[in-house]
Amino acid sequence: MKRFAPRYKRFAAPAAAALTGALVLAGCGSGSGPAELSVSAAYMPQPFSDSMAAGFLTITNQGGAKDELTSVTSDLAGSVTVHETVSGAMQEVDSLDVPAHGRLVLASGGNHLMFEKLKRKPTQGEKVTLKLHFAESGTVEVEMPVESATYTPKTGH
Ligand code: CU
Repeated sequence: MKRFAPRYKRFAAPAAAALTGALVLAGCGSGSGPAELSVSAAYMPQPFSDSMAAGFLTITNQGGAKDELTSVTSDLAGSVTVHETVSGAMQEVDSLDVPAHGRLVLASGGNHLMFEKLKRKPTQGEKVTLKLHFAESGTVEVEMPVESATYTPKTGH
């Protein structure tokens, strides 16, 4: 995988429209235009740790151009990093691709977000606000519900 220098690490994001659940960026809808992203299935299992938590979500791209998730920020945490899991071991990556007409899935056991230096411990029932920063689509704000520590999402298939 190509590695990119992190961008927007200190990005002061303009206010983005916050919606509960799915968030859709405006796009041409033709399927051949630029990246057209939506976020679904976001959740954070209530962490056992006072200092660290994981987060999962799916980013769907209905556009005809790829995008890249380049960084993540949240008021909850001093640092949010993107990790991939390779042969059972996780490692930080600088970016992850969101393919054209495809999906980037962050799920338990695979790619995930790592919230570190937590400013408080998130508890089940609350929502954590985070901002996903993309190379092409700018900033997407996500409300991530905190679920039970053992929550497993239904796949819906
Ligand atoms: Cu990790």
